[in-house]
Amino acid sequence: MTTRIDSDILASLAAHSVELIATLQHPSGAYPASPTFSAYTGYSWFRDGAFIADAMSAANEVDSASRFFDWCETILIDRRAQIEAIEQAEAAGTPLDNAQMLATRFTFDGHEGNDEWWDFQTDGYGTWVWAVVTHARRHDFTPARWGEGIELSVRYLLATWQRPCFDWWEEYEAERHVSTLGCVIAGLNAAADSGVLSSEMEQQARGAAAEALELIQTQGVRDGHLVKWLHSEAVDGSLAALISPLAVVDGTSPLGTATAARIDAELSVDGGVHRYIGDTFYGGGQWPLLSCMLGLAFAAGGDSAKARQQLEWAAHTVTPQRFLPEQVDDHLLDATRVPEWLERWGTVATPLLWSHAMYVRLAVELGEYTPPAWGESTSLAAESHHGNEREIV
Ligand code: BGC
Repeated sequence: MTTRIDSDILASLAAHSVELIATLQHPSGAYPASPTFSAYTGYSWFRDGAFIADAMSAANEVDSASRFFDWCETILIDRRAQIEAIEQAEAAGTPLDNAQMLATRFTFDGHEGNDEWWDFQTDGYGTWVWAVVTHARRHDFTPARWGEGIELSVRYLLATWQRPCFDWWEEYEAERHVSTLGCVIAGLNAAADSGVLSSEMEQQARGAAAEALELIQTQGVRDGHLVKWLHSEAVDGSLAALISPLAVVDGTSPLGTATAARIDAELSVDGGVHRYIGDTFYGGGQWPLLSCMLGLAFAAGGDSAKARQQLEWAAHTVTPQRFLPEQVDDHLLDATRVPEWLERWGTVATPLLWSHAMYVRLAVELGEYTPPAWGESTSLAAESHHGNEREIV
């Protein structure tokens, strides 16, 4: 087990993480996944970005989060014709193929880019809607500013949510993934509650969310816990997010506690969470962002002591440059698979903004980081940059 870390050090890393994310946010509002990692450079993901924006919102970085949501909305508005074509083909019973669906990631200026990617993934279109509505509610304003983007996302999800697609890890395209469905449910319910939809679309959103939830409950549960995809037996670290922050599953319910316990038992080693058994990406190491998501799930289940241990584990992964990586290699599922990735893409993505974001989100949740009030944050970020730098040991 890791040694205990004092609260002031945990808080300092959270403040630093907020500052890092704010510094790296592109003027367009896009959050880069990682500024330096070969395969990610120049791109922003709806999935990563939505969770990053949620963390920035929770840290009272209201403008930063809003600007990311503006970026999302612009991308959707620019693809209105594509969404309408997808909708019409679906309604006519002649659905378009996966290559014609919306992309997973975009360049900072809002284009698909020229690099091949595992593109059809619906989760991000639900997650950003959940994040933007949560943001507006948290800071007590209306999400109407993003009404057009929310509506287009709902229309896209209504036409596509039933289809198998790549999961959070951009794998297993032929399956229907429980984490993906969870993101869709969170997004559709948030949209339905947002007040920006017509009453007809609001009903459709609620109906599809209820149907997807029923699907998870009947085909996505095994031995009392959620599973990686419909009818599978395994768990996936991403399932913790359905408990918190997405709140699709109540953290104190039997399903919530059993899912967190199963992830802990099957995928966590000392608090460091693997994505899933059989992961070979860079040897299948432990992901700080998943450790924080499991921490959020523990907190939602009422176990803040275990949640804090998760935060500490994540803090221990920080590099001397104070970057949080995508994964660490302290415990690998298959060490023989490391060299091929090093050769293909170089060293592990570091910093990964999503890792910093989940760290911040959990630190705020646990009261280990009390963000400055909205509007005061810039001066605090500047202060922590010039002095008070602390090494995590
Ligand atoms: C992960 C995705 C993530 C992307 C960018 C990939 O390796 O599997 O979940 O969105 O990196 O961070």
